[in-house]
Amino acid sequence: MREVIEELEARREQARMGGGQKRIDAQHAKGKLTARERISILLDEGSFEEYDMFVTHRCTEFGMSESKMSGDGVVTGWGTINGRMVYVYSQDFTVFGGSLSETHAGKICKIMDMAMKNGAPVIGINDSGGARIQEGVASLGGYADVFQMNTLASGVVPQISMIMGPCAGGAVYSPAMTDFIFMVRDTSYMFVTGPDVVKTVTNEIVSAEELGGAGTHTKKSSVADDAFGNDVEALAALRIFIDFLPLNNKEKPPVRPFFDEVERTDYSLDTLIPDNPNKPYDIKELIHKVADEGDFFELQPDFAKNIVIGFMRMEGSTVGVVANQPLVLAGVLDINASRKAARFVRFCDCFNIPILTLVDVPGFLPGTAQEYGGVIKHGAKLLFAYGEATVPKVTLITRKAYGGAYDVMASKHLRGDVNYAWPSAEIAVMGAKGATEIIYRSELDDPDKIAARTKEYEDRFANPFVAAEKGFIDDVILPHNSRKRLARAFASLRNKDLQNPWKKHDNIPL
Ligand code: HXC
Repeated sequence: MREVIEELEARREQARMGGGQKRIDAQHAKGKLTARERISILLDEGSFEEYDMFVTHRCTEFGMSESKMSGDGVVTGWGTINGRMVYVYSQDFTVFGGSLSETHAGKICKIMDMAMKNGAPVIGINDSGGARIQEGVASLGGYADVFQMNTLASGVVPQISMIMGPCAGGAVYSPAMTDFIFMVRDTSYMFVTGPDVVKTVTNEIVSAEELGGAGTHTKKSSVADDAFGNDVEALAALRIFIDFLPLNNKEKPPVRPFFDEVERTDYSLDTLIPDNPNKPYDIKELIHKVADEGDFFELQPDFAKNIVIGFMRMEGSTVGVVANQPLVLAGVLDINASRKAARFVRFCDCFNIPILTLVDVPGFLPGTAQEYGGVIKHGAKLLFAYGEATVPKVTLITRKAYGGAYDVMASKHLRGDVNYAWPSAEIAVMGAKGATEIIYRSELDDPDKIAARTKEYEDRFANPFVAAEKGFIDDVILPHNSRKRLARAFASLRNKDLQNPWKKHDNIPL
């Protein structure tokens, strides 16, 4: 027995060393942590239960039978984050460059299957040279098996991808199918084809960083939801982030103790809206002032900044926030803003997270660039996402809610549960000037008449009362009471029960 125990310990030690000290040192020299170090930072101390530590590949080509390493390039298992269960896989770059073999894929699929059965999120830490070149098609099959599991798990348990090294070729598609992607600046990149292939095919010369680094994916492509300075920072942020999410689609979001007065008034909100309707203000100020402890976890902060998305809490419960940002492009809805918000609304709806929508939107962005880019279809994504969402939806119009964008932004007509407006709200088909110039086109050469008509239109429509008279707005609330009124609205919706008609699945305009 003692010998077996000793062998077990020796085998474990060998597996823990991955590809050996030299390769571990090389990993550290690049500013990256090893697969196991990452897990130990991510999970609560001592909570990791590892599976398949002794798995090795089955490849015999290219002398591979002589070269087997326990674990086969990925560390898998489960553990807890602040006491809540998560499944994790962490690719080990020190073993065959973290490349994915048939057995490596099998390990990932095994924990994904367990995650779905047991209702816990999957966190994938990606650091890999892609398909295990020596295995050929077996490795491609392994990738497809992972993709299939990603698809089945979507909407069942949250799936989060950490990109902490290379992620290239078809390998990018597993993260792309997960709910959130976080990257690390300067040490991670994602692309379908690398700089060399790009140069051969298109003559374009581009660095890996420019092509698929964290800056590219958080600012230009929106593939990633945020980026962090180093591994530790990214994993620490993930611990905070996962606390907002329910473990699976049958759970409500977690409620944690809060230390903020629900009835807290904030008189500075009474002057948040500038007197001049064309002057911007920062909608994040409102978010911070209504959130528990002023805490807001923003997602995609560097992409489509004209819309803000992220998580906050009210009375300890997670709330997803979607807010037009008047500071950027006057908060207009365009292709990117619509896509960004639509996917977020759908995530919230999948996982029973109530949605707060803060509205100050002058409409959809006009122009050929938008029309040629398909703003109709992309805008429809957001409309569709709100229309199908059955989670509690609370909306607050702070200023402009013009045209189609009024409808889209969780209006009463899209089954908004509680729709409030501040007294400064202007709910109309369009701004007064534009409206007057269309209705009174024949008077355009008389500036005095037009000014009078504009004033007349403003007096009639640049307020929340026309909508309130129709019941499209449930109440006009005082800005300083916003936290209390919003918190009470969400509290009233805790037992909301709304089902959509049965269908296999919908056909959102993709
Ligand atoms: C097997 C691999 C490997 C791979 C790296 N290694 N990638 N082994 N299959 N795909 C091994 C190396 O042989 C080396 O082994 C160790 O990992 C570290 O690699 P280095 O090249 O020394 O590291 P570095 O200089 O940091 O470069 C990392 C890298 C580079 C940029 C990822 O290794 C690379 O370009 N690899 C190939 C990438 C690739 O083309 N993959 C296939 C993509 S196609 P030793 O023993 O020396 O430590 C694909 C299709 C998926 O993935 C399709 C899904 C649908």
